Amino acid sequence: MKTIIEPFKIKSVEPIRFSTVAQREEILRRAWYNPFLIHADDVMIDLLTDSGTSAMSAKQWSGIMDGDESYAGSRSFYRFERTVRELTGFTHIIPVHQGRAAEKILFSIVGGRGKWIPSNTHFDTTRANIEASGAEAVDLLPAAGMQPRLRADFKGNIDLEALESFLRDKGPAAVPLVMITVTNNSGGGQPVSMANIREASRIAHSYGIPFFIDACRFAENAYFIKLREKAYAGRSVQEISREMFSYADGCTMSAKKDALVNMGGFLAMNDGDLAVRARNLLIVTEGFPTYGGLAGRDLEAIAQGLEEVVDEDYLKYRVRSVEYLAEKIISKGVPIVEPPGGHAIYIDAKAFLPEVPPHEYPGQAVVCELFRVGGVRSVEIGSVMFGKYDAHGILIPPPMELVRLAIPRRVYTQSHIDYVAEVILETFERRNQLRGYRIIEESPVLRHFTAKFAPLH
Ligand code: F0G
Repeated sequence: MKTIIEPFKIKSVEPIRFSTVAQREEILRRAWYNPFLIHADDVMIDLLTDSGTSAMSAKQWSGIMDGDESYAGSRSFYRFERTVRELTGFTHIIPVHQGRAAEKILFSIVGGRGKWIPSNTHFDTTRANIEASGAEAVDLLPAAGMQPRLRADFKGNIDLEALESFLRDKGPAAVPLVMITVTNNSGGGQPVSMANIREASRIAHSYGIPFFIDACRFAENAYFIKLREKAYAGRSVQEISREMFSYADGCTMSAKKDALVNMGGFLAMNDGDLAVRARNLLIVTEGFPTYGGLAGRDLEAIAQGLEEVVDEDYLKYRVRSVEYLAEKIISKGVPIVEPPGGHAIYIDAKAFLPEVPPHEYPGQAVVCELFRVGGVRSVEIGSVMFGKYDAHGILIPPPMELVRLAIPRRVYTQSHIDYVAEVILETFERRNQLRGYRIIEESPVLRHFTAKFAPLH
């Protein structure tokens, strides 16, 4: 088989500023060993997130010039609405400035004290918006989803038995909706099968409870369904996506992922009453319903991006470039969540640094060393991000200590990925010399964004 090449040519480039190890040691020190506090110009390969970091196509950029900036009834809104409706089948399409704005509107309406929202795994902003409304966010991930080295096709699936007994226990009055995140970002970027989506929807509906999809990475999920679920091998990603959405009553979407834009999102639903309430909130917090916190040009770029993202040559390259990086490092013994997900590699920091206990933040140690060795920026998804304290101030760690290297869409080439593999392998060879970190300053919520660290030497 021939090399799977990038299915694009490059017309516009941005320089990467190279630095030395000594310079990066100083950069780390000045940023308090927190990758969120490093200036982007000091990063050589930025794998902090795949969100809002896509390279847009020439057609998207021409859509930017073509965008209609009318306050009401913009032509770009109607193109956006038509594209989203054709893709998802939902009746009401409400633009918002990013995914969490959709979450905020949805859960301000359906959330509240005494309510529970189950999911396979809520993303942290989803959880935060549910909790801010007074409701409880519940993750129902099967045990298999939490075993990094266990290879299975659909480790993002929701636990159907747990869902059924949860709904039986709480009853429909306490559960305003059931949610499923595709792909399961916090669970390692793992896909959810069509069978699981269909069954979760059936269970929710059997209790009269609406079913919503967090659709950020719907196209990557649909492509995994095509590759791994036999009945779908001959179906197009567009058809598969349409079927996924057909089981749902609505979705939240961060267009910063699979709509290939730098900003944007939407909330969609079939329920007309819910849509009226959502639009009323939208007008207060985001904007008039035909622009909702976005410029007309953004709506144009989203519509174009949604058409491009279901292209299977693109998805083949996308999924392959992540898998290619995974193969290179697995073959040398680097422990990662297997099989790799659609948008990122997740290093298993517990296995990478078994000598560093959770309260010394092994993931943070790996993040800092990847930057020191090669200027690669990644992010800890473990005790720094999700750790809580008990009444005595002792850390309660989450089940996994991971380091995420998220691959921006259409930004880096194969040689960049080769370089990243070299940096990971050099870090792995030096693992016996790595030490943990302690937190010297932190905020009470979402502390990973601003916390200051000091190395333990
Ligand atoms: N849901 C999922 C599954 C996400 O991954 C994100 C964002 C959101 C919702 C919120 O969307 O950022 O547009 O408000 N994830 C980014 C990440 C931040 O790095 O994984 P947003």
